[in-house]
Amino acid sequence: MQGSPYEKIGGEETIARLVDAFYPRVVEHEDLKPIFPQDIKPVRDKQFLFLTQFLGGPPLYSTMYGHPMLRARHMPHEITPKRAAAWLSCMREAMDEIGLAGEMRSFIEERLTMTAHHMVNRPDDET
Ligand code: HEM
Repeated sequence: MQGSPYEKIGGEETIARLVDAFYPRVVEHEDLKPIFPQDIKPVRDKQFLFLTQFLGGPPLYSTMYGHPMLRARHMPHEITPKRAAAWLSCMREAMDEIGLAGEMRSFIEERLTMTAHHMVNRPDDET
């Protein structure tokens, strides 16, 4: 954990600020609104647990929910290239809002971009 991206960005507190800045944007975004539940709190909490381990912090998500299998867990939801771009734009805005910058910002943004593209499971024209 020491020297992990998790530690470098400020651990628990920063990840909490990031998810708190991210989900209000997601639920208001035209392209994302239709696929997220109105009660976003459980999703926010799971993302907090997931990002913690994704960035090299304690494996909180797996401890509670088992192997993430993110692509499989996203399969019931229509994730198009357009929605992946929307998700990433909300994430970049959230990073801007909390002032996440520099080398770690680029690193995290890159990893999230790869993961978001990996979640795409439907072409754009089906929605
Ligand atoms: C859950 C959408 C990318 C992590 C979900 C859910 C939706 C969704 C609709 C289910 C919400 C519910 O419980 O009803 C999307 C879209 C993405 C995207 C449109 C765009 C590509 C990502 C990425 C990550 C991620 C890149 C990780 C960095 C999660 C996690 C959950 C989740 C951890 C909770 C899974 C669980 O049920 O345990 N997402 N997602 N998502 N997403 Fe995403």
